[in-house]
Amino acid sequence: MKRYERLADQIAALIRSGVLAPGARVPSVRHASRSHGVSPSTVFQAYYLLEDRGLIQARPRSGYFVREHARQLLPEPEIGSAQAQPAEVDVSELVFSVLGSLKDPDTVPFGSAFPSPALFPLARLARSMAHGLRDLAPQAVIADMTAGNPELRRQIALRYMACGVRLPPAELVISNGALEALNLCLQCVTQPGDLVAIEAPAFYATLQVLERLKLKAVEIPVHPREGIDLERLASSLTRLPVKACWFMSSLQNPLGASMSEAKKAALYELLQRHQVPLIEDDVYAELYFGAQSPRPVKSFDRDGLVMHCGSFSKCLAPGYRVGWVAGGRYAEQIGRLRLMTTISPSVPAQAALADYLQHGGYDRHLRRLRHALEAQQGAMLAAAARHFPADTRVSQPSGGYFLWFEFPERVDSLQLFQLALAQGISLAPGPIFSATRRFGNCARLNYGHPWDARSEQAMATLGRILAAF
Ligand SMILES: Cc1ncc(COP(=O)(O)O)c(C=O)c1O
Repeated sequence: MKRYERLADQIAALIRSGVLAPGARVPSVRHASRSHGVSPSTVFQAYYLLEDRGLIQARPRSGYFVREHARQLLPEPEIGSAQAQPAEVDVSELVFSVLGSLKDPDTVPFGSAFPSPALFPLARLARSMAHGLRDLAPQAVIADMTAGNPELRRQIALRYMACGVRLPPAELVISNGALEALNLCLQCVTQPGDLVAIEAPAFYATLQVLERLKLKAVEIPVHPREGIDLERLASSLTRLPVKACWFMSSLQNPLGASMSEAKKAALYELLQRHQVPLIEDDVYAELYFGAQSPRPVKSFDRDGLVMHCGSFSKCLAPGYRVGWVAGGRYAEQIGRLRLMTTISPSVPAQAALADYLQHGGYDRHLRRLRHALEAQQGAMLAAAARHFPADTRVSQPSGGYFLWFEFPERVDSLQLFQLALAQGISLAPGPIFSATRRFGNCARLNYGHPWDARSEQAMATLGRILAAF
């Protein structure tokens, strides 16, 4: 990371934490240059970057100021306590009816699960596909199906090392996206009828996997900033024979919550005491806005209890369907299950990603992507503050590309979904994120697409629909 980028990240963190409030004057270039021990041109570069990210603005002859929308304008959601009893899951029909309606390319994609394809280096990836295949040894076309592409495994292990996880190569199983890895992990440690602790709200595919495998959900509430309620989890683990936990410790989908390192360590100790395995879904790990990649719970794992699942789908190559799991003590069994179900992820896709990670400028791409997403988050928050009812609540995650809105009780988000769709706007209504159809007045909106007049207009339209409830 360059010096000006580090300085920009430090100032962005001060803005996010509220130390530099909206409207506040950012230290002058001369002052910042002296206090940070960098040249004035480095400070200017940092300020230009923060301007690009939509966090500060220059006022003629007055200096730089924090933009009004740079911090929260609407308050944070309040997540009430979840269903205490284990519940059968039955959401698939609802999820499919919502997903089915998102297919029209002319719809404003606030309901989408992906960022804009324009944010991914698709042309560079295509070159890596050609290089990767040209350099592939003939025997690798078969050998890489079982073992995975060795260079891809090495590159993934290096990224683990950078965030504090020393991974024995044998632990890594490459999969068809993270979703296959998550499915296999769960199959590895449960039988039909078992209880699994999940988040409330949870990523809807989590619910569908539980439904398919005939597992029961024990919903643990998630705080929009701090993550799962550890006390509730501890009580559930004491009272109930929970066989596994499936949690996102960073940039949780849909709330965007990230647990502190201390809380991640405490979660690990709790699970270790009860010997309950953790399936850690970390597919948004690379999309953090701060200076450093968040540490996964996996980094505290001493005895292979954590199965850590990652993916390139959200940050580099959607559609390539390459993910992985660092499977801990379950790695061999997960690998066998994969052989029995899909055999292998595509060898050409693995070769392309291996080449890209080595030569394609992945970290540069990620920095650009994070900055674009951060600016777009600011734009959506500002638009929500302008157009949505004043008693709306919204998350402000430190990464990813989703905002979770909690509307006044009178709003029915399934009805809102239908009304918005009729106006050409999609969104993800709250009940698809719950085993027990809660969050009826909530919705997840995607800000992963470049912000333009159409986005602004769509927010205004949603605001009008909301006002009519
Ligand atoms: C939280 C979460 N986990 C897993 C996945 C699936 O990832 P992949 O596309 O790599 O299978 C998604 C995709 O939407 C997700 O949001």
